[in-house]
Amino acid sequence: METTVNGVKLFYRDEGQGPAVLLVHGFPVSGEVWLPQLEELSQTCRVVVPDLRGFGNSEVPPGPYTMETHADDLAALLDTLGIERVVLGGLSMGGYIAFAFLRRHAARLCGLVLCDTRATADTDEVRANRETTARLVEEQGATAIADRMIPNLLSSTAPPERKALLRGIIERNQPQAIAAALRGMALRGDSTDLLPTVSVPTLIVVGEDDVLSTPDEMRGLEAAIPGSKLVVISGAGHIANLDQPALFASALTAFVQQL
Ligand code: MLT
Repeated sequence: METTVNGVKLFYRDEGQGPAVLLVHGFPVSGEVWLPQLEELSQTCRVVVPDLRGFGNSEVPPGPYTMETHADDLAALLDTLGIERVVLGGLSMGGYIAFAFLRRHAARLCGLVLCDTRATADTDEVRANRETTARLVEEQGATAIADRMIPNLLSSTAPPERKALLRGIIERNQPQAIAAALRGMALRGDSTDLLPTVSVPTLIVVGEDDVLSTPDEMRGLEAAIPGSKLVVISGAGHIANLDQPALFASALTAFVQQL
C-alpha cells in the first residue's frame, strides 16, 4: 500500500489485527527484510512494515535522511493508519530511528524492540567513512555497497541463496537514496542519555555473530535500559531477522504477547 506523509510517498505493508507493531528496517535494505516476521506476527497482531523514504518502493526525495525525518514520517504514517500507540521494533539504522522516535513521540510507544543497534553517535572516523562510501555509491551504484557490506551483514555461515536475497534487496535501492541515508546517519546525535529514561517494556535482540553491533555492545544497552531483556539469536549475524527468521519471529511474538 502507499500513502503520502510529509510530502513523500511511502510504501508500507499493514497486515493482521490486534496490538499494533511497527517494524523498521536498517540500512541499506527495505521492509522486505521483515517479511517472515510480518507473516508470523500478523497472526496475532496488526503489523505495519514501511519502506523508509528513499528505500524499496517508496519515493526517493533529496537527502540527507536524518533519523528525525524518518521518525516523523513514521508518526505521520501511524496517524494516517489511525494507530495511536505501537510496539516499535527497529534494526540497526531502524534502532537509531527508534531513539529519534522516543525523543519526539514517546507517548505513542507501548513497547520497544532494539535489534543489532547502538545508542552512540558516529565517531569522526565513521562519519568520514560514510562520506567516502556515499561518493562511491553515487559513482558506482548500489552494487558497490552490496559487495562491501554483505560479508558483515549476515552470519559467516549464511548460504549463497540468503546472500543473493540480501543483494537483491540492496541493489533495488537507488544510489542517491543510499548516499542520503549514509549522510543522515552521520548527522545523528548520541542517544545514550535516553536509555535510563526508557519507561516502556523493552526487548533487545542481537545476532550471536553480529560483528557490527556485537552482543557485548548490546549487553551495554540491556544494562542501561531499566527492566530490558536481551535475547541472543544463535546462528545469526547483523541482520539477525534475515539469518534466523523463525527464531527472531518467536522472540518478537513472545515479547508482544506478554505486554
Ligand atoms: C544498518 O544495518 O542499518 C547499518 O549497519 C547501520 C550503520 O551503518 O550504522
